[in-house]
Amino acid sequence: MPGIDAVTRGRVLFGGDYNPEQWPEEVWQEDVRLMREAGVNSVTVGVFSWARLEPRPGEREFGWLDRLMDLLHAAGIGVVLATPTSSPPPWLGRLHPETLPRDEDGRVEWWGGRQHFSHSSAAYRRYAASITEDLAARYAGHPALTMWHINNEYCTYDWGDEAAARFRDWLRARYGSLDALNSAWGTAFWSQGYGEWEEILPPRHAHYMKNPGQVLDFKRFTSDMLLECYTAERDIVRRHTPHLPVTTNFMPLWAGQDAWRWAEEEDIVSVDLYPDPRDPFGAQHGALVQDMTRSQARGPWMLMEQAAGPVNWRGVNHPKPRGLNRLWSLQAVARGADAVCYFQWRQSRQGAEKFHSGMVGHAGEAGRTFQEVKQLGAELATLAPHVTDRHSGADIAILHDWHSWWAGAHEGRLSTRVDLADTLTTWHRALWRAHLATDFAHPDHDLSAYRLVVVPQLYALTDAAIDRLVAYVRGGGTLVSGFLTGVADQDDRIRAGGMDARLRDLFGIRTLHEWWPLDEGETAPTDTFDGTLWSEEIDPLPGAVAEAVYRGGELDGLPAVLRTGRAWYLSTLPEPDALRALLADIAERAGAEPVLAGLPDGVEAVRRGDLLFLLHHGQDPVTVDVPGSHRDLLTGDVLTDRVTLGRYGVVVLAS
Ligand code: GLA
Repeated sequence: MPGIDAVTRGRVLFGGDYNPEQWPEEVWQEDVRLMREAGVNSVTVGVFSWARLEPRPGEREFGWLDRLMDLLHAAGIGVVLATPTSSPPPWLGRLHPETLPRDEDGRVEWWGGRQHFSHSSAAYRRYAASITEDLAARYAGHPALTMWHINNEYCTYDWGDEAAARFRDWLRARYGSLDALNSAWGTAFWSQGYGEWEEILPPRHAHYMKNPGQVLDFKRFTSDMLLECYTAERDIVRRHTPHLPVTTNFMPLWAGQDAWRWAEEEDIVSVDLYPDPRDPFGAQHGALVQDMTRSQARGPWMLMEQAAGPVNWRGVNHPKPRGLNRLWSLQAVARGADAVCYFQWRQSRQGAEKFHSGMVGHAGEAGRTFQEVKQLGAELATLAPHVTDRHSGADIAILHDWHSWWAGAHEGRLSTRVDLADTLTTWHRALWRAHLATDFAHPDHDLSAYRLVVVPQLYALTDAAIDRLVAYVRGGGTLVSGFLTGVADQDDRIRAGGMDARLRDLFGIRTLHEWWPLDEGETAPTDTFDGTLWSEEIDPLPGAVAEAVYRGGELDGLPAVLRTGRAWYLSTLPEPDALRALLADIAERAGAEPVLAGLPDGVEAVRRGDLLFLLHHGQDPVTVDVPGSHRDLLTGDVLTDRVTLGRYGVVVLAS
């Protein structure tokens, strides 16, 4: 299959979503002039163009797109052509109300916004296939076309009747019989046993807590239905252009989509990333998403969307201070991105996102935003010939699995304060602050190349995954796990003993008596740190070492951190500095080194193959020791033994 190299051809892709249908054609000329000035070499066109392309059912208006593609081609700008299927025209909802999704309370999601399509609707799929077919047939041979972008941020749910029918089909294929389904869902509880397939519904509004198995399978089903929508369109465009890669853009850490599974169906993995410029850990959020996307891609990936300035969907939306756009863009390149793109090229003057920034803002060419974009475009062009390698060199893998996330998120859990996205963020942040490079991996992946495997939380694990973790440690690997790991099987059935026996043996737990979740502001003191969020009453096996011990309260004297050989178990969440210190210690014992020794706080070092990126996330100048002589690829300067980085400064060092 064609990959990203087919598109980049030695360049870093630079550009963004381009929505020319919002502008008179005179503006297009101006757009192309500015794109060239900024070094834009790729734009994504047509994401929301369905009503322009098919103004009435079955009609086609391609003339404007023909002119646009020709114009872009003449300017040497490649086109990532999107199928417009994420925002159907109003006529589709009017003609086929069954294409409109329903929420769990039965309310219709009407047109007037976007993404008002039911993944299960046969009519929606028929119309989506038809416009995709015609678009692909028309532009397959167009020289501007470089790749396909299917739909946009697949993220919808549907609890309606057609989805209910598809859900039943999906369950029949998964379980084969109602007996198997009743067993997997534990329907003996609360008299929920199903006697006929027709009785089964999506987990709609109910009087009290819903069946966990039903909710879990509905999440799996939703991810699979959206994936079917994606692959149907992908297969159409592939038939016309087998030589061109296909992607769809992920939302970071989005709960609704098993991104490991989806990534297998893409030629290029791409992601949209919008850290809050005011978030003191915005850079770490970026790093997490970039590590995860690179790991899903198992190589190069695309930053499909980011904002050049403010977004308009937070409560208060802040601009990016001077230099931040450049810093965060180069951070993505450091972590393996071969594309730095934005939503969107030109800021809209109408519509719901008119206050969302663009590469060309309302201030136009003279505005600071465009001027910074232009500078970045030039730097990316300078850097491009050097960023050919994408290896992170990470010795540490953080495990994450969507099915486990879905199972562990049931409303009937012991503490709603435990949230997997927060947990992953907290653990990744501790490793990031310790300057340790990390990949992400799925529990089914081969982990043998990593010195340390980190499990912030894997609530539900299959037998095979547990066996693999045990074998990983027996084979010489170091494993560190947080609480609520190995609690349930893949059907969300609690394992005997409250935690799988193989894992209890591995970590040195004889009996897990009780979970003791902690309230907001409550801590569980230990002899070395304060635990937060959670604590546990554990009886250790002989030979297990208590690396930290609870002090005071009900758990006095019991292990808070337990280690047996190279397997570590944290029954609480150490406060941030303690978690950082603990993970740094475990990494050191496992032989996983920080990217660079002695880095000051706020400076991030990232390796991409032989290149060393130093990224300064603060505003006051800092000096970093980098023994040896290096050339900064951005300036050509030769630097010896130390580097001074100014406000949001970046150097890219080749030795
Ligand atoms: C998402 C969408 C874009 C746009 C941006 C705004 O990433 O894909 O169409 O709405 O958000 O931040």
